[in-house]
Amino acid sequence: MDLFESGYVVRDLETEDIEEIVEFEEENSPLPWTYNSFLGELYKDSYALVLEKEGEIAGYAVCWQVLDEFEVGLIAINKNFRGEGLGQKFMVFLIELALENNCELVNLEVRESNIPAIKLYKKLGFEVVGLRKNYYANNENALLMTLELTDEEEES
Ligand SMILES: CC(C)(COP(=O)(O)OP(=O)(O)OC[C@H]1O[C@@H](n2cnc3c(N)ncnc32)[C@H](O)[C@@H]1OP(=O)(O)O)[C@@H](O)C(=O)NCCC(=O)NCCS
Repeated sequence: MDLFESGYVVRDLETEDIEEIVEFEEENSPLPWTYNSFLGELYKDSYALVLEKEGEIAGYAVCWQVLDEFEVGLIAINKNFRGEGLGQKFMVFLIELALENNCELVNLEVRESNIPAIKLYKKLGFEVVGLRKNYYANNENALLMTLELTDEEEES
């Protein structure tokens, strides 16, 4: 499935989206981002993105670039859209965004128990490079995962 050939678009998050996104976030995560945390991203130099099809929000992501490192702070696909390769396509979109911005690494933290996300990241070549103990508000550990953006990645 090609993200754009199949009618999906990625656009910037807007203030008007946030209420709806927070509702999705409460379904998508045991540690949901709040209205104010999304709102704050609009005033930073972040990539706060919405994935949608025909006006329906299918997913969202928030990323930051620090020098040549790209941090994926949040990525989610809403329940009705899961299991169809969309999360993988969206993640590849973010990796390409990092490449376009001359980043050498993509970093993220993931809850140790989040098997679907960990499998997705490993499938795309991310490696576990660290463990942050009791990182989350529920005391769960975070795995720190990194993808090195090599020339090979750039060519693929
Ligand atoms: C993780 C998430 C983004 C995956 O989105 P998705 O669109 O369902 O994923 P895809 O259909 O693109 O699947 C791609 C790969 O991810 C992995 N994966 C996805 N869902 C999985 C599941 N339920 N169990 C195991 N692996 C899974 C598999 O490796 C899959 O590849 P495969 O189909 O060849 O096995 C989605 O489950 C989600 O939004 N979860 C809640 C939010 C979240 O946890 N975000 C990550 C926070 S770090």
